[in-house]
Formats: sequence, structure tokens, C-alpha cells
Amino acid sequence: MNNPALFLKKFLRYGTTIASVAPSSVWLSRATISTIDWSCPRIILELGAGTGPITAEILKKATPESRVIAVEQDADFAAHLRVRFSRYKNLEIIHGDVSELARYLKGRGIDKVDYIISGLPVPSFTGEAQQALFRSVRAVLKQDGSFNQITEFPLLYKRIYKKWFKDVRFIFEPRNIPPAGVYICRNMQEP
Ligand SMILES: C[S@@+](CC[C@H](N)C(=O)[O-])C[C@H]1O[C@@H](n2cnc3c(N)ncnc32)[C@H](O)[C@@H]1O
Repeated sequence: MNNPALFLKKFLRYGTTIASVAPSSVWLSRATISTIDWSCPRIILELGAGTGPITAEILKKATPESRVIAVEQDADFAAHLRVRFSRYKNLEIIHGDVSELARYLKGRGIDKVDYIISGLPVPSFTGEAQQALFRSVRAVLKQDGSFNQITEFPLLYKRIYKKWFKDVRFIFEPRNIPPAGVYICRNMQEP
């Protein structure tokens, strides 16, 4: 399960690094992956998986031939994810930081991924950390790939993503508490 108590404890301790008081709802999680084309095996990279609400929805859809790699910086969340999803052979959990994506993937024989699904608190990152993140994303995302980012402040942060992607579409999910949404970002560009 999504372990809301562990999530809240981390929020109270680390604040903006977690950036939300509760895990994403099932509606927001589904909206976040709603643009994935599952007609062939995919390589999906999830960033900031937390306690795994989006991971769970990805795993419900992913074919056994697809690969799912989830990166999470918090050791307790990473341990929780390993236990929660231990029966899925097509999932790998990496306890690490998103600035090192290319290294993590290279070590697993992966050059590029089809989709990046992000629950990261990007607006809380410093300017330098945002640059490191999007440089990392550009190094590993296929040219026709998509970066899908959750947000709890619909529309407010679009400009961050517009800087790095030519196309940014927004999907609103009013059933999440608070109402939230997803930026679907394609076609990376130099900021
Ligand atoms: C808003 S929570 C989202 C958790 C989960 N995806 C969800 O939707 O409920 C943000 C997550 O990003 C993780 N995170 C923050 N900075 C990170 C970084 N630099 N590298 C990897 N994970 C990070 C946090 O530990 C936290 O689990």
C-alpha cells in the first residue's frame, strides 16, 4: 500500500524535498501515465517514486517485456518500494539521486528510455538542481519520448517545463486532494 503515515512523517521531517502531505491519489497516478502507448514493450523511468502510487499503476499496465526503473532518494521509501513490489521481475528500484540518471541506466545496459514519469518536487529544486535534472533527462530520453510531471499547483509552474520542452500539455485531475494535474512534456530544447 501507499503507506500515507510514512509519507506524512517524511513530509514533516523534510518538507520541500517531499513537497506533499500525502501520496498521489489513484486518479492522479492514472492521469500521469495515461499517455503511455503500451502497444509494444517500453522502458519507463520513474523519478521520485515515494511510496509507489504511480509505480503501482505503471506495473498494472506494463507488459512483462517492458522494463520499469524507479529512482528514489529516500532510503526508507526505497526499502518500502522493494518490499511492496518484490513480485515484479520487470521493476528495478534504485536508491539514488536523479542527477545521475545516465550512470544508473548505463550500468543496466540502457541507453535511452521511452517515458520519464516524474513525481519530483521540481519547483522546490534550486536553479542548479533543475538544470542538472533536465540535462540528465535530455541525456536519457528518446527524441520522441515524453516527460510526464505531476503538479499540485495546476498551471502555476508551466513556465519551468516550457523552458526545456517545445510542447507542454496539461491534464487536470480534480479528484486528487488537493486538485492536481500532469504536464505532458515533449520535444526537448536548449533553454
Ligand atoms: C511529491 S513526492 C511524490 C511521491 C510519489 N511519486 C507520489 O506521487 O506520491 C516527491 C518524491 O521525490 C523524491 N525526491 C526528491 N528529490 C529527489 C532527488 N533529487 N532524486 C530522487 N528522488 C527525489 C522524494 O523523496 C519524494 O519521494
